[in-house]
Amino acid sequence: MERLSLACLCLLTWSGMTSADGNGRVVVKEGSDALLPCSLSTERNIIGELFDWKKDGQREVFMYEPGVHYNNGRSGQDEQFKPRVSHFQDELKNGNASIIIRNTKVADSGNYTCVFPHLQPQSQTFLIELVVGPILKDRRNIPGAATEPYITTIDQTNNWSLLQCLVRGAFPKPKVEFKDSSGNVIPAPEPQVSERGGGGYNVTLKATVTKTDTFRCVVTQEEIHHQVYAETYVFLPTPPKNGAAQKMSVKILHQTNDGILLQCEVEGAFPKPKVEFKDSDGNVVPAHEAQVSERGGGYDIILQATVTKTDTFRCVVTQEEIHHQVYAETYVSPKGFPTGWVVGLLITFVISLVGGGLAVHCFWRSKAKKFKEGSQTERVPL
Ligand SMILES: *[C@@H]1O[C@H](CO)[C@@H](O)[C@H](O)[C@H]1NC(C)=O
Ligand SMILES: *[C@@H]1O[C@H](CO)[C@@H](O)[C@H](O)[C@H]1NC(C)=O
Repeated sequence: MERLSLACLCLLTWSGMTSADGNGRVVVKEGSDALLPCSLSTERNIIGELFDWKKDGQREVFMYEPGVHYNNGRSGQDEQFKPRVSHFQDELKNGNASIIIRNTKVADSGNYTCVFPHLQPQSQTFLIELVVGPILKDRRNIPGAATEPYITTIDQTNNWSLLQCLVRGAFPKPKVEFKDSSGNVIPAPEPQVSERGGGGYNVTLKATVTKTDTFRCVVTQEEIHHQVYAETYVFLPTPPKNGAAQKMSVKILHQTNDGILLQCEVEGAFPKPKVEFKDSDGNVVPAHEAQVSERGGGYDIILQATVTKTDTFRCVVTQEEIHHQVYAETYVSPKGFPTGWVVGLLITFVISLVGGGLAVHCFWRSKAKKFKEGSQTERVPL
């Protein structure tokens, strides 16, 4: 018997501590119900215990005293919570003093405490933070609230469409986004924003979409809880399979006394990327004119540049419209040794840094050793 009560005590202390650590955070949307948890050990029947829920240390949310509470005649509950709060009578025998707040309001957000002041052998306090997020509504009647945006198609091919969304005279400055029918945000460059004479902002957002779908331009002004949108249906007969440039490589084409000719190849990228060579300081290296060919809904690009110094050169492929960038790099030394190595995608690069760190280390050590021994270094693809 003694051992049992000792076990209960430990459980009690433990569960009390974890909640008070601040792990208790409940996030709900305005208008929905919030369950605020507060539990002792399941073996602890609390039908006979007093417990009191308070908000921010002062407002009375819910008080239970054996049999008497705010929903059966007890007075003292804060007006804000009448009659939206209840406990779970059937759960009391399991040590569960959780409450539910119905139809939450943004003003319900705060720090709640669940206190057992007379609990033996010691009182217990649980802390739960409630965050009620506002639901954004169409509030076009508020001054400055954005009206429905205008969507136009600026350009379209069989496999992509460039959409523009225009918002006029909105204040405060709205967030403007294109979303597909699943609600995913379409990656897009920063919108153009200009201030309008009569106050408010004009915002122009452009985005390239690459599939058949209904796209929505969503305009949000969080500060005034306002949101409006317009929709457009886009039909693309042959959307590209994989728009983002992923297949690319850099190689050394040939070496002469005048320098080293590097070649960067990109396959099937859409939208058409910008391809550049950069040195290790990030300076753009002058390149020959790129060969561009269109094929199967994407662009193949070959870019060549002649370099004359020892450095690591990077071929950078940028698709601003979809916020995508990859690169491959190669180390060159015009004097005739290490002929170079190629690193694949940025992703591959990162993975090899993490996963293959040791291998790279060993590689360089063996290379350094070979160099000391005077042997010719060979070309090593990475
Ligand atoms: C307490 O009771 C509520 C309502 O029945 C339930 O949702 C919750 O899971 C219970 N908590 C515990 C720890 O059993
Ligand atoms: C709860 O209290 C913490 C610490 O005082 C505070 O940072 C936080 O904003 C409060 N939460 C809410 C919803 O008011």
